[in-house]
Amino acid sequence: MLHDRDRIFTNLYGRQDPGLKGALKRGNWDGTKHILEMGRDWIIDEMKASGLRGRGGAGFPTGMKWSFMPKVNDGRPHYLVINADESEPGTCKDREILRHDPHLLIEGAMLASFAMGAHAAYIYIRGEFIAERIALQKAVDEAYEAKLIGKDNKHGYPFDFYVHHGAGAYICGEETALLESLEGKKGQPRLKPPFPANMGLYGCPTTVNNVESIAVAGTILRRGASWFNGIGRPNNVGTKLFCVSGHVNTPCNVEEAMGITFRELIDTHCGGIRGGWENLKCVIPGGSSVPLVPAEQIMDAHMDFDTLRALRSGLGTAAVIVMDKSTDIVKAIARISHFYKHESCGQCTPCREGTGWMARVMARMAEGRAQKREIDMLLDVSTRIEGHTICALGDAAAWPIQGLIRHFRGEIEKKIDQYSANPHSEPVRVAAE
Ligand SMILES: Cc1cc2nc3c(=O)[nH]c(=O)nc-3n(C[C@H](O)[C@H](O)[C@H](O)COP(=O)(O)O)c2cc1C
Ligand code: SF4
Repeated sequence: MLHDRDRIFTNLYGRQDPGLKGALKRGNWDGTKHILEMGRDWIIDEMKASGLRGRGGAGFPTGMKWSFMPKVNDGRPHYLVINADESEPGTCKDREILRHDPHLLIEGAMLASFAMGAHAAYIYIRGEFIAERIALQKAVDEAYEAKLIGKDNKHGYPFDFYVHHGAGAYICGEETALLESLEGKKGQPRLKPPFPANMGLYGCPTTVNNVESIAVAGTILRRGASWFNGIGRPNNVGTKLFCVSGHVNTPCNVEEAMGITFRELIDTHCGGIRGGWENLKCVIPGGSSVPLVPAEQIMDAHMDFDTLRALRSGLGTAAVIVMDKSTDIVKAIARISHFYKHESCGQCTPCREGTGWMARVMARMAEGRAQKREIDMLLDVSTRIEGHTICALGDAAAWPIQGLIRHFRGEIEKKIDQYSANPHSEPVRVAAE
């Protein structure tokens, strides 16, 4: 379990002043100038040594990502873009940073920008996050006023921080759709290459990072890479915000050591599983896009990138959705399919047509109004979408269905048997249209 002394987000629950006065008391902005004086290369090397893997879902090493930015400026400005779209169902961690620990984020943005030769950072905030945008803007204004950031700040590195409010679309969390939207265009993912490090915002070198990835940077650089690297398990290190929802007694957001076991996470912070451990059915461990893991496999698993990958799922955003035995799992996955159909931007055929097709089949399967041979057909179609699209939304739509068929095929078949025995049963509504 994580010691209190190792917590980065010491105001996660907003019990203290989120403003500059409170932030300074908690050690934010402490020694920032000294860190900048260590130089760009030192910061990038330290971030690499810390072992931080991106907290936006894919777990790509953050220091390495920063090192992809051109070392020499060719005349184009460099940009840091912070992804605060946070639309993955189950995920609710970045909003707490924006509301309660915004100075950690602003300081981290300045350090990251300096390391990448950027003098401006843009943050793209999910459309629905109105209170979060107001809270962050307040902190940004305070930082300007105190000359912590700005053209002529006390750190000696000109740096501007711009808050941009999105309009509320899941696809705008995909980094290149986000850049399009930030430029004022329709939020549709770009074909890659070119990658943002060469051709990102306004055609300039850009790095896109998640809010949590940036907000932990200041503390890592202050306390040292070896401190962060010493928490967790090899290749899966540091502290991590977990968002636990669903059938636990006390759902919560909590900062824990990466690699904590699922059982310890739930017993220590969430008051256990509703109805006891024998009532656990399955868990979606990383936000709705990752495949579910059945109870017997997840109970004592380490909650980290590599362990969950070995279980054919993923840590994703660490949005842990817990489902007990009362869950109609076919209906639950049908609802998720409906979401991905709704959020497809429609650019590529496998995703545009496939997400709709899968959602319609899943809606019938939730009622049992299907043929058993369609289960394999559905699985087959999902594999033709996965990996065949411009962005990973296609994968996100395919994986929950694959997890369902892998582990709960029997429940789909049972519904089909029940429906064929009584075809006039009540229709199951998956989602309000
Ligand atoms: C459909 C889709 C939605 C995404 N939504 C988010 C999001 O809301 N927030 C986020 O940080 N990353 C999101 N991502 C991942 C980003 O594309 C990108 O990988 C991430 O912001 C990189 O940050 P990191 O390296 O700090 O993890 C999404 C990806 C896809 C394919
Ligand atoms: S995979 Fe889907 S969401 Fe992504 S670009 Fe293609 S159509 Fe758009």
